[in-house]
Amino acid sequence: MSDSNDNAPVLRAKGIRRSFAIGDRTLEVLHGIDLDLYRGEKLCLMGASGAGKTTFLNVLGLLDRPNEGSVEVEGRACWDLSAVERAAVRNSRLGFVFQFYHLLAELDAVENTLLPAMIAGRERGLRGNGKALRAKAIQMLTDFGLADRLTHRPGRMSGGEQQRVAIARALIMDPPVLIADEPTGNLDSTTGEKVLELLFAEQERRGLALLLVTHDERLASRCDRVVTMEDGQIQADSASPIPL
Ligand SMILES: Nc1ncnc2c1ncn2[C@@H]1O[C@H](COP(=O)(O)OP(=O)(O)OP(=O)(O)O)[C@@H](O)[C@H]1O
Ligand SMILES: [Mg+2]
Repeated sequence: MSDSNDNAPVLRAKGIRRSFAIGDRTLEVLHGIDLDLYRGEKLCLMGASGAGKTTFLNVLGLLDRPNEGSVEVEGRACWDLSAVERAAVRNSRLGFVFQFYHLLAELDAVENTLLPAMIAGRERGLRGNGKALRAKAIQMLTDFGLADRLTHRPGRMSGGEQQRVAIARALIMDPPVLIADEPTGNLDSTTGEKVLELLFAEQERRGLALLLVTHDERLASRCDRVVTMEDGQIQADSASPIPL
C-alpha cells in the first residue's frame, strides 16, 4: 500500500498474536488482532483491566515484537525491518504518551522534549540544526503553557506539567500518529481535562491519527470510533474501519 494513498491506513495491525512464557506455561494475551488507524481519525481503545490493551500498544508502537502478525506504518511492514530502521520509524513517525509520563529525571523540560530529535540527529549524523530544534522545543513548551518551566527537571514539575512535556516530546518530530495509553490516568480530573484539551487541540491542528486508550466513557464519546478489547480480541462489531 502506498504512502500517497490518502485512504490507506497510516497504521495497520494484522493478525497480532502475543504470548508470554510463565514458567512452563504459555499465557496467550493477544489472540490475532486486526486494526486499522486512518489519517486524522481519533480512535478510542477500551476494555477491562488486563484485556491486553497495553500489550497491543507496545506491539503497535514497535516496542515489543509479536509472536505472529504484522504492523505497517505508512505501508511499511515494520517488524520485517532491521532494528535500526525500525527504531527510526518509531522515533519519527510514531509519538507516544504514557500514563506515567516516562520523562528522564536528569533532563530538564526542554531536553526531555528534544530527546527524539537528538536521537534522530545522532542516527543520521546530523549536526548544526540544534539551535532551530531547541527553538522549536521552547516554542512548543511555551504554547503548552510551560514558558516558566523550561529548565525544570521532572522532579520539580507537577503531574500535569510533566504530561504536557511528554506531549511536546511525542510531537517534536511531527509524527503522523500519536499513541496515548491512559494519558490522564494518573491526573486529577481538572488537570486531566486540561491535558486532554491540549491533546485534542494538537490532534485537530496537526490532523494526527490518534489512538487513545482510556477507561473514561466521556473521553471515548469525543472520539470518531471506539473499539473494545476483550480477552485479547477486538470485538468484531466495533472494529469496522471507517475511511475518512
Ligand atoms: N511481560 C509480560 N509477561 C507476562 N504476562 C504479561 C506481560 N505483559 C502483560 N502480561 C499479561 O497480559 C495481560 C494483559 O496486560 P495489559 O497490560 O496489556 O492489560 P491492559 O488491558 O493494558 O490493562 P490495564 O487497563 O490495567 O492497563 C495481563 O494479564 C498481564 O498480566
Ligand atoms: Mg494498560
